[in-house]
Amino acid sequence: MKQQFYIDPDITKAETLPASFYQSEAIFEKLKHQVFRRSWQWIGDRSLAPLSGSIYPFSLLDGFVTEPMVLVRNQSDQLSCLSNVCTHRANIIARHPAEVKELACVYHGRRFDLNGRFKFMPEFKEAAHFPRRCEDLYMFPLEDWGGQLFTSVDPSFDFGGVLQVMNKRIGFLPLDQFKRNDTKSKDYLVKCHWALYCDNYLEGFNIPFVN
Ligand code: FES
Repeated sequence: MKQQFYIDPDITKAETLPASFYQSEAIFEKLKHQVFRRSWQWIGDRSLAPLSGSIYPFSLLDGFVTEPMVLVRNQSDQLSCLSNVCTHRANIIARHPAEVKELACVYHGRRFDLNGRFKFMPEFKEAAHFPRRCEDLYMFPLEDWGGQLFTSVDPSFDFGGVLQVMNKRIGFLPLDQFKRNDTKSKDYLVKCHWALYCDNYLEGFNIPFVN
């Protein structure tokens, strides 16, 4: 299947996408990889992993992209976003937020430090060419914008360019002091194609970003 869609950047000429864009399952799947795995997604704020040794496992866009990741604050207080998939047999390593000294896989006991570096594997003393760098946990890119954290599976663009535009518009806000208020937060499940929702959200023209 090869289908091209074109949106004219000149808004006076741009037209609504054809219905096939919203209805095709193949296109929907393809966009999951081309758009969502390649763009930056909000994780939450720094308080998810507040102390040295804190970990916060999560699944990026769970039920859609479903990439297992773990936010880790190491002993030097640096945050990173690591793959939560063991490099031995792909077991999920961390299941719950916790304070830890290392990341340990309960399946066969492989252990990693809080930077994702391989540390130890039982019964592997005799293994040749071991360990190699590929035994380390993959580190995803992580961006911190005023305490709000963003990551991407495989970014197709530099997040700094987006931040520049956002800072120009709302950089005056004390973002570092923003705190999530769960009592004022609501989830709305909208039964529609994600792109249709974005179309509707953005068509006010005065809403330049949607997350
Ligand atoms: S799957 Fe993790 S140690 Fe084997």
